[in-house]
Amino acid sequence: MNTMTPAELTDDVVKAFGATPDPRLRELITALVRHLHAFAVQTRLTPEEWMAGLQFLTATGQKCDARRQEFVLLSDVLGLSSLVDVINAAGGATESTVLGPFYVAGAPARAMGEHIGRPEDGSPTLVRGRVTDVAGQPLDGATVDVWQSNDSGLYDTQDPGQPPFNLRGVFVTGPDGRFEFRTARPASYPIPTDGPVGDLLRATGRSRWRAAHIHAIVSAPGHRSVTTHIFDADNPYLDRDAVFGVKDSLVRPFRPAGPDDPADVSYVVDMDFALASP
Ligand code: BEZ
Ligand code: FE
Repeated sequence: MNTMTPAELTDDVVKAFGATPDPRLRELITALVRHLHAFAVQTRLTPEEWMAGLQFLTATGQKCDARRQEFVLLSDVLGLSSLVDVINAAGGATESTVLGPFYVAGAPARAMGEHIGRPEDGSPTLVRGRVTDVAGQPLDGATVDVWQSNDSGLYDTQDPGQPPFNLRGVFVTGPDGRFEFRTARPASYPIPTDGPVGDLLRATGRSRWRAAHIHAIVSAPGHRSVTTHIFDADNPYLDRDAVFGVKDSLVRPFRPAGPDDPADVSYVVDMDFALASP
């Protein structure tokens, strides 16, 4: 009897999935098997290395709980989260980027122009813009759900010194599509590295820093929601964000406020959002 070749084994496994009734699941699982097998063949993966890989994935699962999703973090540092965004981008719409682990649903609805944080959270900054469709028509009743860390790089959920829902808020546009809020200028911060993803970053000499940003989920009835960021153009980590989340179209100057701007802010950021039809 001849020994089986790697290619024969791969074909056998693909054939075993051949009766998968859902055609999309069959396509996904077949491609996954072929790419995983090609990876093992190309690298001549040893049993010890594969066992170390399984232990890493096990530790990643064990680190997950209701407040921590280490698999999402793994997808983020591998650039897979951003790749999925890039593949699924809707033409003309604001580009999306990673959700991250710090989103909390149910942030308070806030009045237009309201401060989402406290004076001690950082330099007062006015963020304003319009939500439109891809043709530039303003969207009435769009929601802009924003959240961010303070100027020490901490979200409320990480910092007992901040009240719940600090630096979070939901704004609803009127017929002109406009929104406006006050906040603190955010700072760069390190992604969590107390789990297996941190071990991976250390073993590979990678940076753990994220470029400073404000998160937003922008939605409107009849349109595709966008999960995105506003990045600070002055930030030193724009070209080495740990999760590959930076897109040039999302970078905005935090312009020093001038005499024509509201007297209570130090910086002004203009950012419009465009939503595609489904
Ligand atoms: C964040 O921006 O909140 C984030 C995104 C991905 C990984 C870690 C943090
Ligand atoms: Fe963030």
